[in-house]
Amino acid sequence: MNKIRNILVTGGAGYIGSHIAEILIQKKTNVFILDNFATGFKRLIIKKAVFIKCDIKNSSRVKEIILKYNIDSIIHLAAHLNVSEAEKNKKKYNSNNILGTLKLIEACKNSNVKNIIFSSTCAVYGSVNGSVNEKKKPNPQGYYAFTKYKGEQIIRKYAKKYNYRYAILRYFNVAGASESNKIGEIQRSYGHLIKNLAIQSLKKQPKIFIYGNNYGTKDGTCVRDYVHVSDLADVHIKSLNYINLKSKSLVLNCGYGKGYSVLQIVNIFKRMKKKLIIEYTKRRPGDVAKVYADTRKIKKILKWKPKHNNLNKILKSAFKWEKSLSK
Ligand SMILES: NC(=O)c1ccc[n+]([C@@H]2O[C@H](COP(=O)([O-])OP(=O)(O)OC[C@H]3O[C@@H](n4cnc5c(N)ncnc54)[C@H](O)[C@@H]3O)[C@@H](O)[C@H]2O)c1
Repeated sequence: MNKIRNILVTGGAGYIGSHIAEILIQKKTNVFILDNFATGFKRLIIKKAVFIKCDIKNSSRVKEIILKYNIDSIIHLAAHLNVSEAEKNKKKYNSNNILGTLKLIEACKNSNVKNIIFSSTCAVYGSVNGSVNEKKKPNPQGYYAFTKYKGEQIIRKYAKKYNYRYAILRYFNVAGASESNKIGEIQRSYGHLIKNLAIQSLKKQPKIFIYGNNYGTKDGTCVRDYVHVSDLADVHIKSLNYINLKSKSLVLNCGYGKGYSVLQIVNIFKRMKKKLIIEYTKRRPGDVAKVYADTRKIKKILKWKPKHNNLNKILKSAFKWEKSLSK
């Protein structure tokens, strides 16, 4: 085991990466953020971190950075993640998410990088009906999920050769904002339900679209596992410490293990904002009916005890953040 000293966070000007950077800085770690602002924002960059504007595909520059700052650990979040855009522009997603990950890993050759954390998604599992555990063979349906699965394979493939261990973290649906209310989701284009509700929460006449009401679920709408971004950020720190201490690699589901239907969430919103108009529209391609995390592994291995697993709290923090964005 070596002490973790210098951590590179790719995509650290984004929603999840900036949360992770904030927690690392609070823990007095040296944080280096690499981002090209494809979908990131200057205001999300944590002040005490060193920021480097750079594309992960620029392998030689990334290598220089890794050597210059003696990076020992990488948390790799930089990616494109718009599910419908990925179907329309596969080349862009192949280049950024698959080749980008490959270039980043190539830059780790002959360096001191010993730990890599990779942001993956529960979408790699493909069609699932309910709880899913890490042993299920991935079978990604959409192109975005496919690129994340390929990313996982690249991370695994080079681990021995380049002498690092890894944690592949499969996030479920991420939502909410930090307790400090300094960081939250800005990007509007991903079609995330709770972000959409937060945007609507500021409107005089809020309106929400529900994609499909004839799924095989209790109320016909899709069921998902929503995880608060602060709990998710904490999983990164714990996973990093675990792989470093044990010299072992990991694959973990990151969710709470409880599914909520879209209509259930919309109804919570309705109780807060009575005027909401709900419009049902056709299913989105690739959406599965019901998926939530089997959390036995994350609880056992990391002794993880989430602190924000309360849907009302998640919604309130997202709405508070949205309000602060509009000021
Ligand atoms: N938000 C979710 O619900 C969710 C769910 C599952 C997985 N993920 C994964 O989490 C990661 C972070 O997502 P997010 O929600 O914070 O999105 P985000 O768009 O806020 O963050 C992504 C960041 O990566 C940067 N980036 C993209 N391509 C880059 C490149 N080539 N070089 C350098 N920087 C680049 C962007 O500018 C942005 O700051 C992604 O890898 C995504 O696939 C997110």
